[in-house]
Amino acid sequence: MPTEPGASLLARLHELAAFSDEPGRLTRLYLSPSHIAAAHRVRAWMEQAGMCAAIDAVGNVVGRYEGREPHHSALLLGSHIDTVRDGGAYDGTLGVLAAIAAVAALHEAGELLAHPVEVIAFGDEEGVRFPTTLIGSRAVAGTLDPRVFEARDAEGVSVRQALPAIGGDADRFRRCARRPEQVACYLELHIEQGPVLEEAGLALGIVSAIAGASRATVQVEGTAGHAGTVPMRLRRDALAAAAEMVLAAERIALATPDLVATVGRLEALPGAVNVIPGVACLSLDVRSPRDAVRAAAIAALRQAFATIAARRGCRLGWETLHDAPAVLCHPTVVAALEATLTRLGQTVRHLPSGAGHDAMAMAALCPSGMLFLRCRGGISHHPAESISAADAGLGVRALIEAMHQLDRILWSDHVRSD
Ligand code: HGY
Ligand code: MN
Ligand code: MN
Repeated sequence: MPTEPGASLLARLHELAAFSDEPGRLTRLYLSPSHIAAAHRVRAWMEQAGMCAAIDAVGNVVGRYEGREPHHSALLLGSHIDTVRDGGAYDGTLGVLAAIAAVAALHEAGELLAHPVEVIAFGDEEGVRFPTTLIGSRAVAGTLDPRVFEARDAEGVSVRQALPAIGGDADRFRRCARRPEQVACYLELHIEQGPVLEEAGLALGIVSAIAGASRATVQVEGTAGHAGTVPMRLRRDALAAAAEMVLAAERIALATPDLVATVGRLEALPGAVNVIPGVACLSLDVRSPRDAVRAAAIAALRQAFATIAARRGCRLGWETLHDAPAVLCHPTVVAALEATLTRLGQTVRHLPSGAGHDAMAMAALCPSGMLFLRCRGGISHHPAESISAADAGLGVRALIEAMHQLDRILWSDHVRSD
């Protein structure tokens, strides 16, 4: 195993990237065979790093490294190990494996912090398999709605039915929740998934806020018919209506500063070349750092879609799947990260996150923050996603230093409050 921290971290990231449900590309969905295998490999790496590790009731891998004060609140590090379809090797996994490498460095040096440290590999951040997201981090934060366990994947398998394969149990999910007094803070290292740091020539950036996000499934019902016999003016073509909605979403987002809207999936039924689509189903992802802007955009989209459907004689269904407010990163964690970058001789740069993260859920439990690492071309959610070994090593050093900064700041706060 290469000894330079960055090279060994990259080697492990590439090893984990081989755990996929699809040959020739990286797709590792929540509770799939590849997620289960990856979870057990991550658990083994946590144990090699000196942690006690286990898989919890919702499939999170949790490693714990005791501190000098074992009953004290813990510093939590982590991210997710599930991926999107045909994803990259660093989204989520960087934060988990870099945290393990940082704890391993403490362990090899025989060093204990005042606080215990926990590393968590969440299993459902992307929300690709089931119409849910952040199950793992919401379970730890104590904010999970148990109805998610009845959500079903495309094959009709529910989360509840899928959990036993990883040793999970929907009826025990409440045991995953931490009480606020058990957790001092949460810090997540993550690739930026955008071009800002690379364009600025910076390896690291401190996340100021995480954009709020809404996800919905929109169903358009028209009338299927023979492609050769139904005159155009008599058609109620569900796909044509949906296509107009896709362009309406783009038009509204282009006209609204600080807003993005994406239709990532569009299905037409029955899907035959010579049948007018009677049903179309589209996914909708709407985000903004400003919740009021996102709420207004959702209202405008619903109005635009209803107008299009009515004009075309189609029926419209709208199911909201996810609605998460924008989250400000906690000033204590931001301050620790500023001290960290200064200590490492790095420029202190703050930037918002357009992507969603487990830190959004963890913010309900404890002071939470994120550190971004630049990725080549800002590419993510794509196999071309990549980072350099030097930056990977810097990410590990940053987590080690941040743990010391947080340990010092939070311990002094604790002593003062006693
Ligand atoms: O969609 C997101 O922002 C995250 O990558 N799940
Ligand atoms: Mn991610
Ligand atoms: Mn992602």
